[in-house]
Amino acid sequence: MRRPKVICHMMSSVDGRLLTARWTKPFSGTDFKQYVEMYENAGGQFNASAWMIGRNTAQQDFDTGSFDYEKYEPAKRFETHIGSRTSAVSAIILDPNGKTSYNGSNLAGDNIIAVLGETVSQQYLAHLQKNGISYLFAGSDGMDLHKAMEVLYRDFALETILLEGGGIINGAFLKAGLIDELSIMLYPGIDGLGCIPAIIDHNGEIGELPGQGQTLEYRSAEVLEDGLVWLRYKVHQFKN
Ligand SMILES: NC(=O)c1ccc[n+]([C@@H]2O[C@H](COP(=O)([O-])OP(=O)(O)OC[C@H]3O[C@@H](n4cnc5c(N)ncnc54)[C@H](OP(=O)(O)O)[C@@H]3O)[C@@H](O)[C@H]2O)c1
Repeated sequence: MRRPKVICHMMSSVDGRLLTARWTKPFSGTDFKQYVEMYENAGGQFNASAWMIGRNTAQQDFDTGSFDYEKYEPAKRFETHIGSRTSAVSAIILDPNGKTSYNGSNLAGDNIIAVLGETVSQQYLAHLQKNGISYLFAGSDGMDLHKAMEVLYRDFALETILLEGGGIINGAFLKAGLIDELSIMLYPGIDGLGCIPAIIDHNGEIGELPGQGQTLEYRSAEVLEDGLVWLRYKVHQFKN
């Protein structure tokens, strides 16, 4: 199957936690916005044709709303739709149940592509079409990430995608063996609380090993300004 290269690009506390608002302040006193800027500049160096986030991140960190997804019956036909494709980079939202509502075709200036399950309503598809948003289907439950990647490569010509969290979606990609490279920006701060999600957080059974059959090859480590450490690894899949 031909698919885009997936680079998981995340900012992490030194204890691998996900929620930036909880991290200790940097010793240098640097404004957190400057770390975010360094994270974004580093991501830009990959020249990716899209960035991709899970539904929670789309609703918590961006200007989106909630769609009353339980109100309507499932649609009868589920076909890829190409909406506005004017931006150089696309913003992909993995939203299997169609819970997110939008006010236009862009997220942070980039054309949106929604990855959905075959349970969403005609009303939801009409909402996306009205806003000029592209969509495709990732199997009946919207969780077939291999299928989503295949369609994004074939129908949207995306060659490199930055996977930018949250932890749940990163964990799903790891489990599916679909992460080709890890790019971790280690922020000089700590969370420390046991129950806080990690930057890669597959929601599996006790004893499950989501990374089994994969190895990380060290590529580079770079110390950026104000103690931000950029670590890069290539991910290999074992061949039997
Ligand atoms: N440190 C960082 O660099 C960074 C980066 C990004 C986000 N964040 C933070 O991360 C938090 C959100 O992360 P999160 O881990 O809770 O959620 P998430 O990964 O953003 O979204 C998870 C949701 O994606 C949907 N989904 C789509 N396909 C899926 C699949 N194959 N498997 C599993 N779920 C799938 C599900 O939506 P349904 O529930 O609708 O089924 C699931 O609940 C936010 O607080 C955000 O600020 C931090």
